[in-house]
Amino acid sequence: MIDTAWARANLPDRRIDWHESLESTMVEAGRLAAHGCPSGTIVGAEEQTAGQGRFGRTWHSEPGSGLYVSIVLRNQFPPETMPVVTLALGLAVREAIQSTAGIACDLRWPNDVLAGSRKCAGILTTLEGPAIIAGIGINANHTEFPPELRDLATSLRMEGGQIYSRERLLVALAESIGSFCRLLELEGREPILRMFSAASSFVSGRRVQVESGETNLRGTTAGLNQAGFLILRDDNGRENVILAGGVRPCS
Ligand code: BTN
Repeated sequence: MIDTAWARANLPDRRIDWHESLESTMVEAGRLAAHGCPSGTIVGAEEQTAGQGRFGRTWHSEPGSGLYVSIVLRNQFPPETMPVVTLALGLAVREAIQSTAGIACDLRWPNDVLAGSRKCAGILTTLEGPAIIAGIGINANHTEFPPELRDLATSLRMEGGQIYSRERLLVALAESIGSFCRLLELEGREPILRMFSAASSFVSGRRVQVESGETNLRGTTAGLNQAGFLILRDDNGRENVILAGGVRPCS
């Protein structure tokens, strides 16, 4: 179990609900948000029995190894800012991992967090009325993954060779999310777009394949547009705006 007393002492004024086991922190945070819980409320679990990933996938949530949290955000973002909130969360997770574990991560649009070429953290955002539920899973201390994830996933421990404090990660994460959200509220999308483009090797000049539903596009990435969507230049030189989808490197 994480040291919740330490986390609460370092995040005063925050509601932190920590559970031994939940189906998904997204479900519990959504329920609390619907009942009017304060902005910044954190719901965490030692294990999730039905952890949710993007595209309806499940999120592998080994008990006691990862950080599995959902944070309720009530920032007043205009609707057009929503795609950039996702990018801001990616920047926040990257910053928290860097400051806690000293591991420099890459960001794969829109918000996969990679150590080396494998995923060490994932982000899922949903809406509950006016609240945003930011779901974050960090593979902190896993020593192995199921066979189907072995080539795709890694953990901070597997990369850095040591066990990392999940409560330190949690505190750093909550602080980073707070500061990136404040930046977005105060200065708009531009600084986040700039910082994401600088932090991600996938935003420009990268040969990728994008799978979105039935469509599968290949091309070279050509930056982000003002809304935060990825621009992909196909082999005919045509520019496609990618609204959603799984981005993978290809040759
Ligand atoms: C992804 O597919 O990359 C997103 C993964 C998000 C996982 C986290 S773990 C905490 C929160 N609760 C969930 O059920 N999912 C998110």
